Amino acid sequence: MAETTLDLRGVPKPEAYATLQGHIESVLEGVRDDIAAMATMSALIHHAFGFLWTGFYRVVEPGRLLRVGPYQGALGCLDITFGRGVCGTAASERRAMLVRDVNDFPGHIVCDARAQSEVVIPVTDATGTLLAVLDVDADRVAAFDQDDVAGLSRIVAWFAAPRPAAPPALG
Ligand code: SME
Repeated sequence: MAETTLDLRGVPKPEAYATLQGHIESVLEGVRDDIAAMATMSALIHHAFGFLWTGFYRVVEPGRLLRVGPYQGALGCLDITFGRGVCGTAASERRAMLVRDVNDFPGHIVCDARAQSEVVIPVTDATGTLLAVLDVDADRVAAFDQDDVAGLSRIVAWFAAPRPAAPPALG
């Protein structure tokens, strides 16, 4: 297992995401636990790019409510209703949201006044059920582009990949 947290600032994004993807897959080798995967991804994505906030909001009431999951950064909002803010919109419409300037997004939920731009990616399991959204915030306007949407979408595709069933517990 690769043990280090990579710093990929300064590396062109497509190359950085390819490296990060390989690193995350290597760290998660043999892992089947979604929360462990969310925690690992949050830490590695966050530190690779020096983002302001990186983490997951989990679906706790399908079609109704998201609740904060593993994240890195300052205190995040705990609950977000489907349809509210950038995360709730991504969840209800099940599509990636790329917000160049959060001040221009009506209904943006301010968890940290330093956040200026944001990208949110829906996370689905192998059956297509929405599990969560991945939310990444930056402290400058226009920090994200389609390379981030593509790179982050590939990372969270881990949750939809078929994985062998866990071996029976030892008695
Ligand atoms: N800004 C988000 C809320 C979550 S936090 O930024 C951590 C939104 O509008 O959905």
